[in-house]
Amino acid sequence: MKHRKLFEQITLAPNLVLRNRIAMAPMTTWASNDDGTVSDDEEAYYRRRAQDVGLVITGCTHVQENGIGFTGEFAAHDDRFIPSLTRLATAAKSGGAPAFLQIFHAGVKTLPALVSDVVGASAVEGEAGPFAPALMPRPLREEEILEVIQAFADATRRAIIAGFDGVELHGAHGFLIQNFFSPHTNRRNDRWGGSLENRMRFPLAVVDAVKSVIEAHADRPFALGYRISVEEGNEGGLRITDSLQLIDRLIDGGVSYVHASLGSALDQRPVDDTSGRTIVRILHDYIAGRVPLIAAGQIRTAEQAERAIDEGLSLVALGQGLVMNPDWVAHARVGRDSDVKLSVSFQDVARLTIPQRLWTIIEDTPGWFNVLRNQAERQAI
Ligand SMILES: Cc1cc2nc3c(=O)[nH]c(=O)nc-3n(C[C@H](O)[C@H](O)[C@H](O)COP(=O)(O)O)c2cc1C
Repeated sequence: MKHRKLFEQITLAPNLVLRNRIAMAPMTTWASNDDGTVSDDEEAYYRRRAQDVGLVITGCTHVQENGIGFTGEFAAHDDRFIPSLTRLATAAKSGGAPAFLQIFHAGVKTLPALVSDVVGASAVEGEAGPFAPALMPRPLREEEILEVIQAFADATRRAIIAGFDGVELHGAHGFLIQNFFSPHTNRRNDRWGGSLENRMRFPLAVVDAVKSVIEAHADRPFALGYRISVEEGNEGGLRITDSLQLIDRLIDGGVSYVHASLGSALDQRPVDDTSGRTIVRILHDYIAGRVPLIAAGQIRTAEQAERAIDEGLSLVALGQGLVMNPDWVAHARVGRDSDVKLSVSFQDVARLTIPQRLWTIIEDTPGWFNVLRNQAERQAI
């Protein structure tokens, strides 16, 4: 076997053994039904990609109604969504790998068409991105903060009932959990902001509440993961030194694994670090085997995935690679490296089981996927 390293088993959480080192990265599809339930297109998309990976992490789902971040995002903020979540869990687990539900509150990174009551830690305007405009949030009041924490716990209870094998807290990408952790967006001077200790309070309270629900309700192994954006590029934003402190506390608080969301898992280095080590290497050395480390970021080929494992990852999360190659793991197993596509065109959409609405977003977002738009481009590869 050519890429043997990718096919070693790993224990991600007590009694949760994965058959290989490839995870489906959490990916929103923009394709849910208008009532917030999982659609036929989404079910097919997950089934198609879940067959050979070691772990499936679903796209994010909002734990409160005003926590929605994207159009066509399936919901988890009420018990009435349990049948929909059950459908998703069944599809995501249909290939035999465990599946985790990624839960979040979008906070300031939402759309005015979806949310009128935009909330955050403080009244600091969010940064405009490809999927969200710059919005000014209203600071959450103390009792509302407690409600959000409870909402994460309630969504976890629903994930357990639905049949998932874990939840992943989305503490990355500027959404509400990161919004509280960041010194740039959290300017509070109560117990939820100010010092690093206070900025960690919200993420850690969420971990604590979720952990209690798992202990009370899960009758089977059930993991609790945490996704982190290790740094913010802007001045006054998060740095890896903050994130390492949080990681210590997350591990003490009982998370099963840490999942770093990186621009480039193989190359990215900290903004202020001059040691030359990659972020993955720094995280690996710092965590020192206390919990498994996952990361995503521009891993496209099996050879790159193996290098990422050599650099210190326990598990490699694939995003775009799996959108473009639902059979990525099967190709890697037999060493058919040249079968892995690095681009996609509209002609591939049906064959790859890409929901039409996801495809529209991909086409309309320049500089994201490598989209071949015309015949000449397609023939050139
Ligand atoms: C279509 C798409 C949807 C995504 N949705 C989410 C999401 O719901 N939650 C999340 O944490 N990251 C999301 N991401 C980011 C990916 O999980 C991953 O971190 C990123 O794509 C980099 O990995 P890649 O280069 O392998 O695609 C999404 C990425 C893609 C391509």
